[in-house]
Amino acid sequence: MKALVHYGKTGLEGLRLKEIQSVLLKDNEVRIKVKVAGLNHRDLFTLQQHDPNGEPLIIGSDAAGVITEVGSKVTKFKVNDEVMIYPAVGWDRKSDAPDDDFKILGNPINGTFAEEVIAAETHIALKPKSYSWEEAGVLSLAALTAYRALFSRGEVKKGDKVLIPGIGGGAASFLLQFAKAAGAHVTVTSRSKEKLAAALELGADQGLVTDEDWSTALNGDKFDIVIESVGAATFQKSLDSLRKGGTMVMFGSSTGDVVDFNLRGFFYGQFNLKGTTMGSFEEYQEMLQFVEAHQIHPIVDKVFDVEGFEEAFRYLENAKQQGKIGIRFAD
Ligand SMILES: NC(=O)c1ccc[n+]([C@@H]2O[C@H](COP(=O)([O-])OP(=O)(O)OC[C@H]3O[C@@H](n4cnc5c(N)ncnc54)[C@H](OP(=O)(O)O)[C@@H]3O)[C@@H](O)[C@H]2O)c1
Repeated sequence: MKALVHYGKTGLEGLRLKEIQSVLLKDNEVRIKVKVAGLNHRDLFTLQQHDPNGEPLIIGSDAAGVITEVGSKVTKFKVNDEVMIYPAVGWDRKSDAPDDDFKILGNPINGTFAEEVIAAETHIALKPKSYSWEEAGVLSLAALTAYRALFSRGEVKKGDKVLIPGIGGGAASFLLQFAKAAGAHVTVTSRSKEKLAAALELGADQGLVTDEDWSTALNGDKFDIVIESVGAATFQKSLDSLRKGGTMVMFGSSTGDVVDFNLRGFFYGQFNLKGTTMGSFEEYQEMLQFVEAHQIHPIVDKVFDVEGFEEAFRYLENAKQQGKIGIRFAD
């Protein structure tokens, strides 16, 4: 089978579509023929972080496809079931944080950008019937992260005022859809006026240009919750936009990991700052019930054939997308 394997060189130069050997199934596993896999910003980071001289790594965290083989002890799924893959191992129940054996697919363990993926039956879920393969393929990691950030960590309630910086991002697009479904009033930011217009179409109540002075644009209005994933470029502005006692939840730092921030402003503001990363399998199942109940469909910007993977990565790197990018492995 073919897979996108990283080795030899740091970055995109070390990523190749390569023929590799299929492996045998364990008793509790299923073999999935991948239809569409989803790109995440973390895949760009993986190309920088993975040791090119270490073991070759199949990258990617998201995929959906059809079961072609089941292990002898598999009871919940059968051949031809259409499924999506939970993008991690080692975190079953909802908790403050996973144990140390929590690992995300695609780095440090082999991931989903392959014609075939093997997964434990306890780490997959049936694809929502109304979803296309494109929608199912791009959903898992970003939607799960958004779900935990907003509900488990942000504890969003109906009527809350929520700010989402960087709305062009894949995870941010789910945050907008989920927050609106929960009855929140949602403000988004983007560097692109076109993306702001599209977010307003999608239900955002208000849009700000990321680089403008938000405080002036908002006329002093503040937020109950900010969900931050842009990182250094917007961190202080996001914190300054909270109402006293408000909560900022962070799961990304696309523009840099290190910031200076005003400690006195922080404690006078009685702010809460919470980190979050992805989510447990229990939250994954809750998220799937939530998207089905609210008929939420992922915003799929573009799907590239696997042979065009380099173009897909550049498209993501240049933040051209509004929503999610997919890679097609089979029709
Ligand atoms: N911890 C976790 O479990 C987890 C899970 C998912 C994602 N993440 C992280 O969350 C972040 C977003 O992920 P994603 O996959 O949704 O990313 P993405 O699709 O690549 O989107 C990132 C967005 O951030 C904004 N942005 C990028 N550079 C910017 C800059 N210099 N100034 C202002 N805004 C900028 C852009 O929004 P506009 O185009 O609208 O300006 C861009 O669309 C990444 O850092 C990712 O690693 C973490």
